[in-house]
Amino acid sequence: MKTLLIVYHSMTGGTQQMAEAAAQAAREQAGVTVRLQRAHASGPADLLAADGYLFATPENLAAMSGIMKDFFDRSYYGVLDRLNGRPYAAMICAGSDGQNALRQLDRIATGWRLKSVAPGVIVCTHAQTPERILAPKIIGADELARCAELGAGLAAGLALGVF
Ligand SMILES: Cc1cc2nc3c(=O)[nH]c(=O)nc-3n(C[C@H](O)[C@H](O)[C@H](O)COP(=O)(O)O)c2cc1C
Repeated sequence: MKTLLIVYHSMTGGTQQMAEAAAQAAREQAGVTVRLQRAHASGPADLLAADGYLFATPENLAAMSGIMKDFFDRSYYGVLDRLNGRPYAAMICAGSDGQNALRQLDRIATGWRLKSVAPGVIVCTHAQTPERILAPKIIGADELARCAELGAGLAAGLALGVF
């Protein structure tokens, strides 16, 4: 049995819905245990105990969210050189961009020698005003389907040992 660890942070609910969609689809694959965890409650032991990863974060101020960065900061040295070659993918929830958060996350994963096995998924909510940015988010079915596809693909690849 392989373990897929999904770590996420979400302030207004968008990233959470994306992570839940990916987790639900991943759980439909045989041969994989899926752990869906919030970043603040996750650390190096969770990473070491898993075989593959899906990281999901909002883009805040052209970077991954502070809580997600804190998860990587706290975990970094505890897992360095111990995750080499394990597969990962990333999902970003953004208002209008998301590229920088994805780039940042990919750089950290590269430092851990993780293997990117799918293009990152960026979902834009198109919230532009302060009111809309701070409002609870509802991610559309098409976007959630992209997240589900990523979760299912990661889980299936892990179960089949193709990564
Ligand atoms: C403080 C703050 C900074 C943000 N900065 C960016 C940004 O740099 N680029 C972007 O595309 N969206 C930005 N956004 C919009 C969020 O990415 C968007 O609201 C997203 O839905 C947040 O994910 P969540 O719903 O999981 O919290 C920002 C939002 C906040 C609250």
